[in-house]
Amino acid sequence: MSINRDFFTIDQVGYSFSGGDKILSGIDWHIPSGSFHCLVGRSGCGKTTLLKLAAGLLLPSEGQIHIEAAPVAGPSQKIGFVFQNPALLDWLSVMDNVLLPISLHRKVNETDRQSAHELLHLVGIADLADRFPAQLSGGQQSRTALARALITSPPALLMDEPFAALDAITREELQDDLLDLVASRDTTVLFVTHDIAEAVYLGDRVAMMDKGRISLNIEIDIQRPRSAACRYGKQFSDICQTIRSAMSRQVVK
Ligand SMILES: Nc1ncnc2c1ncn2[C@@H]1O[C@H](COP(=O)(O)OP(=O)(O)OP(=O)(O)O)[C@@H](O)[C@H]1O
Ligand SMILES: [Mg+2]
Repeated sequence: MSINRDFFTIDQVGYSFSGGDKILSGIDWHIPSGSFHCLVGRSGCGKTTLLKLAAGLLLPSEGQIHIEAAPVAGPSQKIGFVFQNPALLDWLSVMDNVLLPISLHRKVNETDRQSAHELLHLVGIADLADRFPAQLSGGQQSRTALARALITSPPALLMDEPFAALDAITREELQDDLLDLVASRDTTVLFVTHDIAEAVYLGDRVAMMDKGRISLNIEIDIQRPRSAACRYGKQFSDICQTIRSAMSRQVVK
């Protein structure tokens, strides 16, 4: 019996937008519960499309996706989605943005507010709860979006280049905060990034997409917990180099 069941099971998935060209083909990917998988690939290769399929926001044209062995037939409540653009509502405070996934379904209660406060504390912006998005830096907006994705305690997070707009130091801080958060909650993560070093630092595995196909999927055998020091080790740079070489061999569409 397998100890670590798969959370996402993606079998022979293909996708075309309403009769157009095939965007994805023959995707096979199993993501065990509690693991952190990253996806890299050139712009336009189909990463966001695959994330939307995994979330049930799109349905496959071919093949099947299962979440915890149940076929995905629509948006799943088991998933928190973090978009590249933090997509906060300007007219809501940080606290109310975080509570949005709850307030869309029912009346927010004191327990929800307490949970939102704890999450804001965990992502390091508890003192900004009453501010509005226009009064936040990019990093603070990303932290708010992360807290919002976690407020319903989803067992899985799908993240689409969530830190792309941030400076290197803020990005590294957020990577560490994210790793701590998901480790403490045993969250399954599928994380899309353009940044190879980010993928290697975060992931248990890194997959690479090339023109709608997974062309590489490697285990990142670097000890956890990961720390700043590992970014400068030979093992880390060798893995980054392997992925970079594979990516530079790709032909741009
Ligand atoms: N709604 C749509 N209708 C038709 N084609 C689309 C649609 N959305 C995306 N595409 C096309 O599908 C392909 C894959 O898009 P996708 O957004 O998945 O790429 P990506 O790998 O996430 O790129 P990036 O790194 O730039 O975000 C692209 O060629 C894109 O033009
Ligand atoms: Mg994308």
